[in-house]
Amino acid sequence: MQTATIALPDPSATARLGRALGEHARRGDCLLLEGDLGAGKTSLAQGLAAGLGITESVTSPTFTLLNEYAGRLRLAHTDLYRLTALEIASMGLAETWLEPRGVCVIEWPERLAAARGELDPEELLHLRLVQDGEGRRAELVRAEGRGAAWWAEATVDFRG
Ligand SMILES: Nc1ncnc2c1ncn2[C@@H]1O[C@H](COP(=O)(O)OP(=O)(O)O)[C@@H](O)[C@H]1O
Ligand SMILES: [Mg+2]
Repeated sequence: MQTATIALPDPSATARLGRALGEHARRGDCLLLEGDLGAGKTSLAQGLAAGLGITESVTSPTFTLLNEYAGRLRLAHTDLYRLTALEIASMGLAETWLEPRGVCVIEWPERLAAARGELDPEELLHLRLVQDGEGRRAELVRAEGRGAAWWAEATVDFRG
């Protein structure tokens, strides 16, 4: 049975869930991160980077196409919020993220619909962050194959 929801009462919980995802990430894993502005997507990506052993500070990629970081595995972090469909199509997602394969985090994956066929759905973990009182919760949107295993490992770890 997959965990459908994780309560994240404060920013440290978001960081901790991200760290668990980073620690259990394998080459080729890809996290799609939905949620309104301020939902905590970049915060979760920062925790994930820490879990990959990345010491460089991870900043919001809203004004850049793609940020890359070196850790235990390479992390590619993007935020598609302000990009047009044409810009997204010209990013070369498959070449950049899948060859050579690292771990990717994509904020605003709703904008990816047209390009989604480029990414292997077997690898995807699709989450949504939602405001919940003063805190947030992480909801599982979709995970199959490796994405489901990644989520299971991270949530077991998160719960301690
Ligand atoms: N679980 C949480 N509870 C309360 N605030 C949170 C939580 N997780 C993150 N935040 C805060 O939400 C704000 C926005 O986070 P950010 O990661 O930039 O959002 P997004 O990338 O979704 O726009 C930050 O101030 C962050 O500390
Ligand atoms: Mg963000």
